[in-house]
Amino acid sequence: DDDDMAAAMALAFESVAGSKTDAVVVPAGYTAQVLIPWGTPINAAAPAYSADLAFTPEIQENSVGMHHDGMYHFALDDESASRDFILALNNEYIDQGALWAPQGGPTGMDDDDDRRPADEARTEINAHGVTLVRVNRGDDGRWTLADDTSYNRRITSATPMRLSGPVAGTDYVRTAWSSDGTRTRGTNNNCANGYTPWGTYLTCEENWPNVFVKDSDRYADDDRIGIPTGRGRYGWETAAGDDSERDGEFARFNATPTGGSATEDYRNEPRTFGYIVEIDPYNNTARPVKRTAMGRFRHEGAWIGKLVEGEPVVYYSGHDSRNEYIYKFVSEQTWSASDENMAGGSYDRLAIGDKYLDRGTLYVARFDDDGRGEWLALTPDAMTRDGDRTLAEALGLAADDLAGIIIHTCDAADLVGATPMDRPEWGAVDPVSGEVYMTLTNNGDRTAAGTDATYSNGGANDDELGVGFATAPVNDANPRPESDDGHVIRWVEPSPGDTVFSWDIFVFGKVPSSDDENLSDLSDQNYFSSCDGLWYDDRNNGNGILWIETDTGGTDYTNDQVLAVVPQGLSQGDNAAVINSDNQAQLKRFAVGPNGCEVTGIFATPDKTALFINIQHPGNWPAQAGDNVQDATTETAGEVRPRASTVVIQKADGGQIAV
Ligand code: FEO
Ligand code: CA
Ligand code: CA
Ligand code: CA
Repeated sequence: DDDDMAAAMALAFESVAGSKTDAVVVPAGYTAQVLIPWGTPINAAAPAYSADLAFTPEIQENSVGMHHDGMYHFALDDESASRDFILALNNEYIDQGALWAPQGGPTGMDDDDDRRPADEARTEINAHGVTLVRVNRGDDGRWTLADDTSYNRRITSATPMRLSGPVAGTDYVRTAWSSDGTRTRGTNNNCANGYTPWGTYLTCEENWPNVFVKDSDRYADDDRIGIPTGRGRYGWETAAGDDSERDGEFARFNATPTGGSATEDYRNEPRTFGYIVEIDPYNNTARPVKRTAMGRFRHEGAWIGKLVEGEPVVYYSGHDSRNEYIYKFVSEQTWSASDENMAGGSYDRLAIGDKYLDRGTLYVARFDDDGRGEWLALTPDAMTRDGDRTLAEALGLAADDLAGIIIHTCDAADLVGATPMDRPEWGAVDPVSGEVYMTLTNNGDRTAAGTDATYSNGGANDDELGVGFATAPVNDANPRPESDDGHVIRWVEPSPGDTVFSWDIFVFGKVPSSDDENLSDLSDQNYFSSCDGLWYDDRNNGNGILWIETDTGGTDYTNDQVLAVVPQGLSQGDNAAVINSDNQAQLKRFAVGPNGCEVTGIFATPDKTALFINIQHPGNWPAQAGDNVQDATTETAGEVRPRASTVVIQKADGGQIAV
């Protein structure tokens, strides 16, 4: 309403033009600095990066990982929180061409029966995961990595982890390496992220199924979630180790049974993946924990809802695949401010995580056409949408088998009649109003009327209930068929633990080259496609800025970008697009990335003077670490060994960004 508009912040920068250069284009008066690109040593055990550096498992384990994605900052004390902190960032996947450039490419990738050399597989495994580094800003305004601190740490796809929550210790996750089902090794394809108010980092396993292989008729949930048959993405399962092979160093990537029982092979290894993983950034010996209560699927990220003393702690998460779902975890324990993080303090934060994240209820979203929606509980005794069976009965599980429901999260969500979405990616929460924003990036598998199921998840649900589909029909929450450009949806509940919500569509993407309808009347100052990263900047008492990032890999119109908008309040039950020709001037393009990249991973320092973003999978960039990169480089394609990197955007005068 008018009062809200009167209080709104003004975005005090000129929208930058779409760009197709090897620069991070920023508004006049701003700089963009490369920080911790892939291969930067995090301690004295790794050499300085050079364009001809030949990586080994040891070098990569002691250097920044590849393909930066979600990230967050952890203060060492409150006073210095904006200039000296632990930066935790995901290394989602790898570019084998760049990793093995001096050798002319990876070995053993040509044919399905080629075997990968053990040290190449180990190096690639170590290039994945999470990087934790202490970074700080000098008096000259430039940011550097502190390479002599025990906070610096790599967590890789080989790091031992604890399983916690309902699935831990069950038959579902017993393996030859963990016969009691309480441990696993590694976290994979960590895309977006989250944080907790008790000072831990949450990293989320997204495209993890692709590193495994299985035989053709393994568990039905393996088909549903997309584990390949034949060969894994990087063929790690083909590598032969030495003595360590006996503990399944590489065999664990093959879920085909070899022994008589599940504790003689790795048939259950994929069931130890698909989770949200909690990491204590302040304690470099704390073992990461997989929080199974929050569901098992391709988790994009984990976004904490409005935090209220005495009410449940809630997290929102999306499953980024076409026609998959949006989820909400509601803790059994209510929030106590006495658990709030003591910056830099040394104590057991993961024990606080045990309290809030191991017991609770997982829900999945149904968006109804009247701008209302409902969170549907995924518990063994919840009824399927046809109302005549429990989820446990429909899935063939024991009546109290919550672990089984979690292992089969996607099936359970089908059965209760959740709304298939246009690839849920990042979320962001206004911490004052509790409004949740989520990007729906695009969806080639949606048609006006929908088409019938062509896949089966083993007969557990689809034909009988009619919830399977090859393409989903359009609905009010996902109204464009074959959307290339995506949209941002928004909802709010009366209070954090409530199971009903109101929703609207905040903005529809559009670029000139697509055939999507321009439903939000975008123009040269804000054309965008495939919205992905999202961050709510809580300045101005909750009337702050929503930052939107894109992942197209580059369109004819522009490379991927960062946009900013000061949102208007949610109209309860009104599902019309909020950004339209009357108010689209509020949505502005703030930055554009280099050729070939996606722009991801976003937050600003608490004082809002530095915006951190990540440039993932650039094609020919950056020319040199430590450089300012707001100007295009002159190198032509193929001259640069490309490196994903964090980029810090600041005002030359040191003031707050965007205002
Ligand atoms: Fe890793 Fe959904 O993007
Ligand atoms: Ca289209
Ligand atoms: Ca993403
Ligand atoms: Ca994406």
